[in-house]
Amino acid sequence: MRHTRVSDLLSSTTTLPEINAKGWVRTFRNNQFIALNDGSTLNNIQCVVDFENTPDETLKRITTGAAVSVTGSLVESKGAGQKYEIQVAKLEILGDSDAEKFPMQPKKHSLEFLRENAHLRVRTNAFGAIMRVRSVLSFAVHSYFQQKGFVYVNTPIITGADAEGAGEMFQVTSLPLDNLPKNEEGNIDYKKDFFGKHTNLTVSGQLEGETFAMALGQIYTFGPTFRAENSNTSRHLAEFWMIEPEVAFNDLNDNMDLAEDFIQYVIKYTMEKCSDDLKFLEGRLLEEEKSKPQAERSEMGLLEKLNFVLENNFKRVSYTEAIDILRDCTPNKKKKFQYIINEWGADLQSEHERYLVEKHFKCPVILFDYPANIKAFYMRLNEDGKTVRAMDILFPGIGEIVGGSQREERFDVLVEKMKALGIDEEVLWWYLDTRRFGSAVHSGFGLGFERLVLFVTGMTNIRDVIPFPRTPMNAEF
Ligand code: 4AD
Ligand code: MG
Repeated sequence: MRHTRVSDLLSSTTTLPEINAKGWVRTFRNNQFIALNDGSTLNNIQCVVDFENTPDETLKRITTGAAVSVTGSLVESKGAGQKYEIQVAKLEILGDSDAEKFPMQPKKHSLEFLRENAHLRVRTNAFGAIMRVRSVLSFAVHSYFQQKGFVYVNTPIITGADAEGAGEMFQVTSLPLDNLPKNEEGNIDYKKDFFGKHTNLTVSGQLEGETFAMALGQIYTFGPTFRAENSNTSRHLAEFWMIEPEVAFNDLNDNMDLAEDFIQYVIKYTMEKCSDDLKFLEGRLLEEEKSKPQAERSEMGLLEKLNFVLENNFKRVSYTEAIDILRDCTPNKKKKFQYIINEWGADLQSEHERYLVEKHFKCPVILFDYPANIKAFYMRLNEDGKTVRAMDILFPGIGEIVGGSQREERFDVLVEKMKALGIDEEVLWWYLDTRRFGSAVHSGFGLGFERLVLFVTGMTNIRDVIPFPRTPMNAEF
């Protein structure tokens, strides 16, 4: 008999005479009640074992973490807490789990301990919920763009370009590191490398994405990106997933409209599909916040916070206005910020972004028109000659969740800018072709998928919303 998923059994509308379920034991109470979980839902199904007619050796093997198969009937539960339970007629132990050694005990574990056991933490309620929400969110991303007729593009993972010009790249090579070939000048001879040139893991698919937008109109990427920035924070990963839409003929305002509509859609979709998991995560967050001083607790519960984002427009504020607010705010005057804002042109740190979102505006904020010299080379220069058509979306508890811009479509201006920044035109000859042949206004943005998952799940460390996090000094699993 084929087994039925626990989620289907729990949502059954009738009792069923004969079913089979397979899963892992969460707890086994009174030698009689198994809480069985198969990952299809947060909820366990209660399996009532006929302990009088089950050999002792078998009962002893029903331990937390063991894989079991139960055959029996789905009956109305006599106990409180569930509508249906399984009256077990036949129980088979599929895989034993030594109760003494199994790390996921039925008790509260620290998030740090769970990170060290990332291969098993997904067997806990919280991580099961987070990973199901993550899966639904990624489907929502595709659903949004596909409905709107965007073309999904797989941009390369190995590339010769540094899209962000920030030099935070992992190199890719097949050269022997202990015996590197040298050229006449004594430098490493990358002509002898696998690709005959210097290559790295991509930091962003944007530049390749732009070439596709200039033919297909509206495209999006959704893939892994890699950054060798040594920031050991709760918001940074060395390997993260990014969603990058790019749209021909969109200006910066259209770009903001798209980003806002997109984020609201995926959150709404996920709230509809994952209500059990999100309710559980809301409770988890509430519990976690109890250990914090009152002033640091969030004013809203998780679901209220998500609804707030759906129901309110994001506040659009220029960089210049934001600097005025920050310069005059109390933490700046009292020197509470680590980086004091003195003048226009300062790069905003996450403390400033969070002040704007959490204390000043108290809603998601889109900052736009940043100083040119703190942003990437490809952004459209404004008529003032000193700001670019950039936008960052800032979220409460997260800080920057989206970075995007209208692109510099003018060949001469772009080349000028690249020269000033020392970006090699030869390397990006193909990118410049988009400006040589049929150039047009276009815009796009990148959304850090894990930062979105953080926001939606109410988790606070980015290491807890990706299956196997890669961070400085950590590439286990
Ligand atoms: O702001 P970023 O660097 O922008 C780009 O890469 C552009 N090429 C996007 C575009 O216009 N197509 O990165 C975009 C987003 C950030 O806002 C942030 O959410 C996320 O990617 N991000 C990270 N997420 C996790 N770990 C990191 N180290 C991240 N760096 C950026
Ligand atoms: Mg950015």
